This record gives sequence, structure tokens and C-alpha cells, in this order.
Amino acid sequence: MITDFPSEVSFEGPVATYRTPSLDDAEEIRDILSDKDNMQYLKFMTKPGGWTLEQVQERLTKQLQGQKENRTLVLHIIYKGKVVGMTGFTVIDTIHRNAEVGIILDKACWGKRLATEAFYFSLKWAFDELGLHRVKWVTTNINQGMRGWLEKVCGLTVEQISRESLLVDDQWLNEYTYVLFEDDWRTRVKPHLESKIYKS
Ligand SMILES: CC(C)(COP(=O)(O)OP(=O)(O)OC[C@H]1O[C@@H](n2cnc3c(N)ncnc32)[C@H](O)[C@@H]1OP(=O)(O)O)[C@@H](O)C(=O)NCCC(=O)NCCS
Repeated sequence: MITDFPSEVSFEGPVATYRTPSLDDAEEIRDILSDKDNMQYLKFMTKPGGWTLEQVQERLTKQLQGQKENRTLVLHIIYKGKVVGMTGFTVIDTIHRNAEVGIILDKACWGKRLATEAFYFSLKWAFDELGLHRVKWVTTNINQGMRGWLEKVCGLTVEQISRESLLVDDQWLNEYTYVLFEDDWRTRVKPHLESKIYKS
């Protein structure tokens, strides 16, 4: 189990690069977080009129501070020289060895295997390097893309449904939690994701 998170992390996949955020990424991140299509399933994270540069800089600063304090590890996704999204862990509990993982991606980049790569590198770091026991995703009933990826690519089933826990556009949403444990990662999910990412 690592006790001190590295200050810089970088992974190179066949499709994209995944690296520690830089404050210089703020404009690209602002555009991603402010786009209605990108955020159609994450409306609870949107801001009226879009995110300001200051709000994004504050978010990035908090994430980097969290990494220094061994509480978070966020990666920016670089595709064809542009920041196109973010993945990683906004909550890591090193005492109970669990974390929550997520992803936000520019819609123009959906369907290019980026989520598969992004989660592969995030999970590899979390389970193989950090030594976590349990990683969860929390999504909503309407997020067919995320649920499809979790169920079809990762082969997971829903662990918990929190009914009507979010109110978005006057509609109650159910939160769906999916969980991956370290044993399942090592024996099944890791080799399966590797076969998808590195297939010729
Ligand atoms: C869900 C998301 C992360 C998938 O990313 P992606 O890079 O397009 O996914 P990949 O290309 O790596 O994997 C594709 C696989 O995911 C699943 N998938 C993706 N979109 C899907 C959809 N709309 N319905 C069902 N399954 C879907 C399928 O199994 C697909 O494989 P297939 O094309 O062979 O059927 C992407 O749609 C996204 O960023 N959504 C918006 C942000 C978001 O909702 N984040 C999650 C917050 S909890």
C-alpha cells in the first residue's frame, strides 16, 4: 500500500495519454464542463451560464491539493494533443482501501475506447500500485452509456440503487452503484480490459 501519492502520474495508451492535471488545462476543462451534451447525464454538476475560468482553476487546485494530501488522484485525458476529459478518483480512503472512480469526456470523443483505457489505467494504479480493495462507480438510471460500459465491458452488476436521490429538471433520478473488488480486478477485469485495449 502506497502511503504517499506521487505528485505526477502519467500513462500512455494506444489511443490517448492520461496525466496529472495542470492549471494550464483550465480553459479546455472549462469548455468540457460547460458543454450541455458532454454533461447531459451530469447536470447536477453544471453551472448556470457554464463554468467560469476561476471556478475551474479552484476545482483543479483542490484536486491537486487532494493529491498532495493522499485523498484524490485525477487524470486529464489527452487525445491528439488536446485535453478531452478527466478520469480518476475524487474520493480515496486509504484506511478502508476504497475509492470512487468517474469520467467526463468530450462527446466528440465518445465511442473511441477512451473510457476503457481511462478506467484501465485508473484501476491499475488503484489496485496494483495503491493497493485498494474496493472501487465504486455511482451513476444514474438514465445514464445508459456509463451503465452499458459497466455491465457489458466490465461485466459488473448493480450493487445498490438509491431511489430518487437526485432532483434534476424536476425529475427524480435513482443513483446506481457498481462495485469492483481487487480479486475480480486481478482475475477477470484486468485481463479482459487489456485484451480490448491492446488488441491488434
Ligand atoms: C459512458 C462513457 C464514459 C463511455 O465512454 P466511451 O469512451 O464512449 O466508451 P468506450 O468506447 O471505451 O466503450 C464503449 C462501450 O461502452 C458501452 N457503451 C457506450 N455507450 C453506450 C450506450 N449509449 N449504451 C449502452 N452501452 C454503451 C458499450 O459496451 C460500448 O461497446 P460497444 O460499442 O462495443 O457496444 C461516455 O459515454 C461518457 O463520457 N459519457 C458522459 C459522461 C458520463 O456520463 N460519465 C459518467 C458519470 S457517472
